[in-house]
Amino acid sequence: MERPKKRKNRTAPARSEGHERRARAGSLQKGIDILKRGGLVAFPTETVYGLGAKAFDPEAVMKIFSAKGRPADNPLIVHVASRAQLRLVADEIPPVAEKLIAAFWPGPLTLVLRRSSKVPPVVSAGLGTVAVRCPDHPIALALIRGVGEPVAAPSANRSGRPSPTRAEHVAEEMGEAVDWILDGGPCRVGVESTVVDLTEGPPRILRPGGVTAEAIQRAIDEKVSLGSVGGPSEARSPGMKYRHYAPRFKIALVPPGGWNSALAKEERSGKRFGILCREKLSEGPTAVYHRRIAGGAPAYAQALFAALIEAEAAGVELLLVETVPKKGVGAAIMDRLERAAAKIGRRTIEVQ
Ligand code: TXA
Ligand code: MG
Repeated sequence: MERPKKRKNRTAPARSEGHERRARAGSLQKGIDILKRGGLVAFPTETVYGLGAKAFDPEAVMKIFSAKGRPADNPLIVHVASRAQLRLVADEIPPVAEKLIAAFWPGPLTLVLRRSSKVPPVVSAGLGTVAVRCPDHPIALALIRGVGEPVAAPSANRSGRPSPTRAEHVAEEMGEAVDWILDGGPCRVGVESTVVDLTEGPPRILRPGGVTAEAIQRAIDEKVSLGSVGGPSEARSPGMKYRHYAPRFKIALVPPGGWNSALAKEERSGKRFGILCREKLSEGPTAVYHRRIAGGAPAYAQALFAALIEAEAAGVELLLVETVPKKGVGAAIMDRLERAAAKIGRRTIEVQ
């Protein structure tokens, strides 16, 4: 499960003094030292940036919840760099987990297993289970190995906001709440890991993500069920009930081929609107933000959260976003877009 890859620890363009101070190349050792002392370090993974603390240190883990403004009933993912670390975290590794680990680790797949007593209850929000994954990123792996114990990390955004896929997003969003930021450049996958519960009955996808449901089914030769909010996944993955990915503007979803009527309507409305599309649009509309992401669904996933953050900076009041078919990584894209448009979780508590 350890497949080291060469990637440069790049320095992103500094947008603020705080960011310049934190995101210097070669700062890995400093990140390791801060984590060892019980601090918070943001680090790149292949999916999104994580906000890490030592997983076996309950006081350090509590700092994650307060830095993010995260409700205490929303459990964290524990990141491991070796099988020995996995054994410390989970009491039991069922055969189906072995198959998934062989097929997808390191990678964007999180497994929910029975929690070992070594993992403090605060990590799992008091559940008897633990979510664990091995990230496919050399900086993340070097950090975990350097600390010498698993690292608990949610996405490095304030609770309810879009996940950061660049170090500068973390700096702008978290400010002084994080002690150090490691910069690995833009994340490759762009949406978070797939979360699969293996603790009860047949495998169930609690959150669609970077590994597709189709690939999981092929790897285990077994049907997986998909959780839905209001369904069993809400009870089994408490975080899914909260509003997520919410930028500071409204989102309207536009199906492919629906652009002409959507644009005609917005041109008349006088709103400051933006466009995030895959199709080439023939008209030059009066949008304050216009981004086309060419290529397939993986390219769309990779650029999605960054585009939401850019559109926010452009001051849009409404962003028109093109939908994709809900297959492959498209299922994760549409999950995030529907949550950002508050079609999911509308009736639940909105967190800041
Ligand atoms: O790609 C990712 O998964 C990123 C990177 C940093 O690894 N992390 C991430 O963490 O997205 P977070 O905290 O933003 O999302 C974790 C999800 C939440 O929906 C949470 O409810 C669920 O995993 N989760 C965590 N522990 C769980 C458990 N024991 N049972 C069920 N769901 C769990
Ligand atoms: Mg998150």
